[in-house]
Amino acid sequence: MLPAYIANPTAVVFGGGTPIDLGKKWKDGRRIFGGGKTFRGLLGGTACGIVLGLLQMQVTSLHFLGTFTFISIITLSFGALLGDMTKSFFKRRLGYERGAKFPLVDQLDFVAGAWILTYVFDTAWFSDNFLAYPWIMVTVILFTPLLHRLTNIIGYYAKLKKEPW
Ligand code: CTP
Ligand code: MG
Repeated sequence: MLPAYIANPTAVVFGGGTPIDLGKKWKDGRRIFGGGKTFRGLLGGTACGIVLGLLQMQVTSLHFLGTFTFISIITLSFGALLGDMTKSFFKRRLGYERGAKFPLVDQLDFVAGAWILTYVFDTAWFSDNFLAYPWIMVTVILFTPLLHRLTNIIGYYAKLKKEPW
């Protein structure tokens, strides 16, 4: 999960500049994704996730970290931010402003994105590393909201994030 876990907060650090929706609106008159989803965040976050995954691949002696495939590193990192972006799309459709609180969805969007993209593009790796260990998946779902909240509180006080959620 580490590439996905690092992609999310580094998107906040690198974020800013041109929004992915280029400021355009959907049919409902609201932004497609909103100003909180930028190219810099998407690319910076994905790149950081990939770098961490490649580093993890090097420490093969630490078997508890598991082994990666190149595809899984990319899909975990990019999928995390794709999930976050998909979440924003639906938040806007539901009328939530950028940054509005959406409990549990805000915390698990990136897990869903990372898992779905990895399942689609590297089913064998996903089966061996997640589906084969349902307790790992349950642990991730239970602990991610806590971890996410803690990270965002730190990000808020470090003045990197506008909201502590
Ligand atoms: N960010 C970014 N690009 C991304 C993801 C995040 O630039 N692809 C940056 C933005 O500055 C964003 C901040 O990280 O404001 C926090 O991300 P997040 O909480 O996901 O976005 P919100 O601003 O809360 O917007 P939304 O309501 O759409 O979730
Ligand atoms: Mg937010």
